[in-house]
Amino acid sequence: MAKPKVYVTRKIPETGLEILRAQCDITVYPEALPVPRAELLQEIKDVDGVLTLLTEKVDAEFLDHAPRVKVVSNMAVGFDNIDVKECTRRGIPVGNTPEVLTDTTADMAFTLLLSAARHVGSASRYVLAGKWKTWEPLGFLGYDIHGATLGIIGLGRIGAAVARRARGFNMNILYYDAFPRRDLEPELGLRLVSVDEILAQSDFITVHTPMTPETYHMIGEAQLRKMKPNAVIVNTARGGIIDPKALYKALKEGWIAAAGLDVTEPEPIPMDDPLLTLDNCLIVPHIASASFTTRSEMSAMAARNVLAGIHGERLPTCVNPEVYQK
Ligand code: DGY
Repeated sequence: MAKPKVYVTRKIPETGLEILRAQCDITVYPEALPVPRAELLQEIKDVDGVLTLLTEKVDAEFLDHAPRVKVVSNMAVGFDNIDVKECTRRGIPVGNTPEVLTDTTADMAFTLLLSAARHVGSASRYVLAGKWKTWEPLGFLGYDIHGATLGIIGLGRIGAAVARRARGFNMNILYYDAFPRRDLEPELGLRLVSVDEILAQSDFITVHTPMTPETYHMIGEAQLRKMKPNAVIVNTARGGIIDPKALYKALKEGWIAAAGLDVTEPEPIPMDDPLLTLDNCLIVPHIASASFTTRSEMSAMAARNVLAGIHGERLPTCVNPEVYQK
């Protein structure tokens, strides 16, 4: 009997590919950049499953070109690249990769928080440019993290993991979530407040909400103007949650002190984006989950979702479980 066919939209860690190869006939797009749309639509025409990345848009057009597809498995916890409603309407389960990347992503949120507050990016560029001439009493003065107030917007798994790290720095932690986590408050020393209170009181703000129509540009000019002039904002969620034009104004005009971004809108950030001209804006290329161990686990999880889907079993991590009620 012919093996099920699976298309993998980019090279992923071997761990995931081995799991797939054991049972499927797989095609992996071999290049470093995302597969061109026309080629993707051609490649999926007779596949049973597809393993996608956040760089692929899975919409009605995609699904029209994949009439046999039984599962869409995204190698990411976020799935805003996928029209989940449309998949559900067609009875296709969608998988993602939660939990395995929680701590690695929280590590990066904290790295950005520390680095943006203490000018690590600009100070490193200063050394590389040969400008380090002496110890400077007034050079690169930044903001203390220990004892400062951290505001977490979105206390899901990653937000809570950031709170655990903040405890170690003796931070005063505020949070907002539409679903308050009273159970975690004593353990993590958290206080539930409104978003406005977070904006007004926090020295550091980190966002951990999914990207939805409701959270798109939820941090815009009005919100940035409410922040403290020493505030540092960190985003490891999705670029679209912060309005980049408003952020540029806020950083340039000193409404806030600094930003640390793992994600931008759009991605990659265009080289003529004014944010790139600012010393107080530290940007890394969407690498929060990029550790050897975590990416390997993400690939394995995504591969297991593919296998479950093509065998008609419930996906281990499914974002649209309502698909099974049909
Ligand atoms: C995700 O998983 O959604 C991240 O953005 C990439 O790891």
